[in-house]
Amino acid sequence: MPRIALVPGDGIGTEVLREARRVLEVVAGASGSSYDLVDWSHLGAERYLSEGVTITDEEFRSLADEHDAVLLGALGDPRVPGNEHAKDILLGLRFRLDLYVNFRPCTLIAPALCPLKDADPSLRLEIFRENTEGEYTGIGGSFKTGTPDEIAIEENLATRKGVERLVRAGFEYARARGRPRVTLVDKANAMRHVGGLWRRVFHEVGEEFPGIERDAMYVDAMAMDLVRRPERYSVIVAPNLFGDIVSDLAAEITGGLGLAPSANLHPGQHALFEPVHGSAPDIAGTGTANPLGAIRCVGLMLDHFGNAAGAERVNEAAVASVREGRTTPDLGGELSTAGVGDWIVERLEGA
Ligand code: NAD
Ligand code: IPM
Ligand code: MN
Repeated sequence: MPRIALVPGDGIGTEVLREARRVLEVVAGASGSSYDLVDWSHLGAERYLSEGVTITDEEFRSLADEHDAVLLGALGDPRVPGNEHAKDILLGLRFRLDLYVNFRPCTLIAPALCPLKDADPSLRLEIFRENTEGEYTGIGGSFKTGTPDEIAIEENLATRKGVERLVRAGFEYARARGRPRVTLVDKANAMRHVGGLWRRVFHEVGEEFPGIERDAMYVDAMAMDLVRRPERYSVIVAPNLFGDIVSDLAAEITGGLGLAPSANLHPGQHALFEPVHGSAPDIAGTGTANPLGAIRCVGLMLDHFGNAAGAERVNEAAVASVREGRTTPDLGGELSTAGVGDWIVERLEGA
């Protein structure tokens, strides 16, 4: 029985994960599969603020060795402006479990959700974000902090191995799912060392996939073109920071952050599922957070564990809630977070 660590985290993370958990329980029960759901709600800002602890080595070991996956809400709290706990827990898990693929599928499930005019109803952008390198490693430092001569350095790290395995994951996915094109996002015109490595590896690996078109875009032009003609894009591979930015943009043009799920993967080893959005302190506690991104993470997780039928049922219910307007206010509906969860659970129970 797969053992899942549930980490609600902070803010709306706790609110959306409650609904995701209910959906997981209903679908698992109906499909005769069971999951051992383990509560990890002690990880988060509250503990950091009261005890000064983010996550211990023993907890890392337990998540790595005694659990088959992590389902996480969000981490971030205005009382922790440096985001120390989120860096240790979320980035810590990405690095220490070597979750090198951050897969962020953005599918337009109802044309009216796209804020762009004349959107192609079949719009689907699938982002493969490198998740263990780039500007995120913490390599660097500061000197003469707080003085007029202050210096700060944040290195941008890329390894041949790290780039190649992520690019390959993107092309393999495109081939397996029959996607026409893989696009690289970089800034090789300004950052020639890291950008050059990405470009060379991208074209080299791409040669192994002759049926798949490929192109490389500078990130500034990509941001523009995703708004101008998003339907041109399909699978997108990107370094860590550009993938972070482009995935919020892609989420917004396919219905908003509240809908977007993600999977952090080391294929064959570890997996962590989390919605793309954060802890949204501006709406936390109001009961208006959209739980569909977290619920769709349950779909990705079921698929990961080989329960394709269960994943399909979750996705179908999420799509139905949007098409029937049974949504939270961000999507124009009037339901609360729990109201959307209730509607989806009832639908799944009745099906
Ligand atoms: P955010 O994603 O939390 O919110 C951005 C905007 O989108 C806000 O206006 C928010 O209300 C809205 N929004 C987000 N999710 C929504 C949902 N499910 N339903 C309806 N509206 C939603 O980004 P932010 O405000 O930049 O970050 C807040 C905190 O979350 C920060 O501490 C940040 O570091 C953290 N964060 C964590 C994660 C994560 O844990 N994976 C991801 C992103 C940001
Ligand atoms: C995300 C978030 C994180 C990131 C933050 C919270 C460090 O924005 O998961 O997209 O930048 O990776
Ligand atoms: Mn982000």
